[in-house]
This record gives sequence, C-alpha cells and structure tokens, in this order.
Amino acid sequence: MSFGRLSRRHFARLAGGAVLGLSATPTHSADAGGTQQGFPAGFRWGTATSAYQIEGAVNEDGRGPAIWDRFAHMPGTIIDRSNADVACDHYRLYRDDIQLMKGLGATAYRFSIAWPRVFPDGLGTPNPKGLDFYDRLIDELLANGIEPFATLYHWDLPQALQDQSGGWMSRDTARAFADYAAYVAERLTDRVSHVFTINECSRLVHLGHGLGIDAPGLKLPQAELNQVRHNVALGHGLSVQAIRARGRPGTKVGPAENLVVCVPAIDTPANVRAAEMATRELNGGYLTVMLEGQYIDGFLAQAGKDAPKYTAEDLRIISSPIDFLGLNIYKPDHYVLAADNERGFTLAPFPASFPHMDADWLRFGPEAMYWAPRHAAKLWDLRSIYITENGTSATDEPAADGNVHDLDRVMYLRNYLQQLQRATSQGVPVAGYFLWSLIDNFEWADGYQKRFGIYRVDFRTQRRTPKLSASFYREVIKQNAVV
Ligand code: BG6
Repeated sequence: MSFGRLSRRHFARLAGGAVLGLSATPTHSADAGGTQQGFPAGFRWGTATSAYQIEGAVNEDGRGPAIWDRFAHMPGTIIDRSNADVACDHYRLYRDDIQLMKGLGATAYRFSIAWPRVFPDGLGTPNPKGLDFYDRLIDELLANGIEPFATLYHWDLPQALQDQSGGWMSRDTARAFADYAAYVAERLTDRVSHVFTINECSRLVHLGHGLGIDAPGLKLPQAELNQVRHNVALGHGLSVQAIRARGRPGTKVGPAENLVVCVPAIDTPANVRAAEMATRELNGGYLTVMLEGQYIDGFLAQAGKDAPKYTAEDLRIISSPIDFLGLNIYKPDHYVLAADNERGFTLAPFPASFPHMDADWLRFGPEAMYWAPRHAAKLWDLRSIYITENGTSATDEPAADGNVHDLDRVMYLRNYLQQLQRATSQGVPVAGYFLWSLIDNFEWADGYQKRFGIYRVDFRTQRRTPKLSASFYREVIKQNAVV
C-alpha cells in the first residue's frame, strides 16, 4: 500500500484531535498467539545486521574501500583501537549464520548490501563478484525459508565518492546512490520484495558530519550540515524512484529511520496530542519531509539562516510515495507534556536517575515501542510499519558453565515486546520486528566493546554461542507472543 503527501484536511483533523487511521478497538484478536500476549497472524520475526559490522573480507573479490575502512584505521576513532577488517567473518560464514536464524525459527532477515562491493568506486562499472555474494546469501536464506529484507545503505559509502565530491556534501552522491539502487533493484528484486533505502539518515548526518564520531568524521558548521541532511533525504527519494523504475513491479520500498521518540509523560488526551505534535516537529529534518514533502515551519524556524537550499522539485522527490516505514527503536527521546505555548508542548528533562541499559545513550523506556509506531501511523496515515531494529548491548560475560545468562537483555526485550504487542492489539499496523542483532559485531566507534547479539561471538575463534536471549526469542517466535 502506498501513501503520499498529506492533505491540509488531514492536519485539520489532527489538530482537532480525532483519531486517524487507528481503530478504537483491536482489529484482530489479542490472543492471536494463543495467549493474551499474541501478535497478528503472519507477523514477521527476524534479526537485523549490517554489512560493515559483520562481513569482514574488506579486500575480497574486488570490494573498494569504504569511508568506514579509512575512518576505523585513523588513530583515536575506535575506542578499543579495533577495526572491521575481519569483524564476524560473515562473508565466509554466512551459511552458518543463516543456520542460527533458522534455529531461532525466524521468518525474515534484514541485512545490508555493501555499496563498495557492488560499485568499488561508487559509480561506473559494477563489480560482478560483489553482487554475487548477495545472490548467494539471498538464495541460501530462501532455501531455509527466511525472507530477505535488504537495506541499500548502512553507512559504508565508497571512499572514492568522499574523495572526489565530498560524499554526502554533494548532490552528486545522491544521484550516484540512485544509480546503485537501480542496479541492485534490477538484479535482486526477483527474490527480494522489501527494500530499505537508507538506514538512519539522522545518525549518519549528525554523528558522521556534525559530531565527527562516525565516518567520515567531519564536524561541519550548521549550514553545511543541513545541506548534507538535505542531500541524504534527496538520495532516499531518488532511490525510491530508481527502485520503482527498475525493480520488479510490486517491490515494496521505504526508509529505516531512528525517529525521535516522544512519549506522553502522562497518558491524557492533551499530552498524547502534544506528543504527536512534538513527533512531527522534532522529526522535521527527515521523516516529516519524506512523508509530507515540506520542511515544516518549526524546522525552518530552528534552522534560521542555516536552512538548506532546495527546490520544490527536490521536495517532490524526497516525498516520493513509499510502501512502508521502517523504525529503529531503542529508547524514548523525550517525555512530553501539553503546554499553553506556541509549540503546544514542552519536554520534561530526564532526571539523572532515569534507568539506562549498558550504554549511556540507551535509556530503558519500553513505552517508546508503543508510542513511536502509534504516533507515526496516526500522523502520517501509515498502513505498514516494520520495527527494523530494537535491542540492547549488555556486558554478557560467560558464567562458570560457559553460558551467557543475559537476563538484562531478556528483561529489556520482554518489556519492549509487550509494548509492541499493546500497539498491534490496538490496530497499529506493525507487520514485523527485527531484533538488533543476530550476533555480536563491530559496533562502530565502540569497536567490539559493546555486544548487541543474541549469539555471543568469540572474535578470536569466530565461534558463535547462543545467549539466554536467543532461547527467549526462539520461544517468542514459536508462540507468536511475548513469553
Ligand atoms: C543503530 C544502528 O543506530 O544502533 C546500528 O543502525 C548500531 O548499526 C546500533 O549497531 C547500536 O548502536 P551503537 O552506537 O551502540 O553501536
């Protein structure tokens, strides 16, 4: 199902507080899984990974260098001085990793395609061996009854594009991305029916180009940063069009974004409305423009003289109709209260004692998993949402018996999944969930110090061992319910 721009009427109704797109009563039985915790029949259960974080084999079969190769080898960028040259060696061990998924009973898998394997220089002549790897991976997934969901860009930009045109600082990169998307669509959509364009535009812009924590490690002034943001959004839109033009008819396409999650501090109609308004405004640079085709006043007012330069045609491209929205949800970003001010809301500050998981940024707030898809579905009249990432890092030390009893991760997942079940039982159109992550991997600037996998990886031997959370997830999938 496609959806495009929203009408003024839509927002008039929203401002009036009417419930949009959500039925007041569940559209399916809350006990679909045989318990009160059930998910809809046919709900997709999977795990998520990304190419750079697991594949290794960075010099194999004609792959070109990526900006993360260069960045990770620069002193002071990765906390444990590691890199992803080998990572989980998934390039060689992919068959074994698919068996792990099969053992979980997973029905879907979200992976990413490494642009520099397919176009070592970012554009020009494709490298046939690069795409061969994904052919093998997809065929193996299908042979094991697992549906492939492919992400086109999870931050591994070909270094050549960074060197030649400044990467995402240039609109040329958005066009090169669309050419790459067209080529991949032509080759893979005979077997891949769901394609994600860009993973987390906001993080690649802010951490990569503003704070310099992620590759390419730039700290651009605000005006240039906003232009990067615009170019990335344009890349998303152009790639949607390229996939429609060159992919198999019926291929479904959408972004995978880590939206700013706004939770009503107290669940009253006024606060819920305020949290919706906050969601729309605080996602003004990405989802709102993708889904509405406009930079809203709140965004432009905040950007001021640093606002991006764009044309009306750009906005039309960025808001090309999509088939689903992918949401990466880890934490609540704001608790919101209704306010009698210009914005209509105020953000409550987080107290220092607010609970965290094993990372400063990872707040424990399971209700994020209920409100984020609910707000998105209502604000933008969505018919299909996937939770494209959710999970947590944990210390994961093996116990004396060699097992990893990651009770903290199990507790986190159980609570977040309960909130997801709450959403689906009320008719919020979430069609699947991808747990981040299948295996411990290269966690960007954290190197191998943060572990997000439900399988532990011994990076000296590449041995994978199931954690307690793998048993938990297997049971969830089996029962199609929170256990
Ligand atoms: C998401 C990314 O932002 O968070 C993943 O899409 C990443 O690639 C995950 O691994 C965890 O983030 P971090 O910064 O702790 O590695």
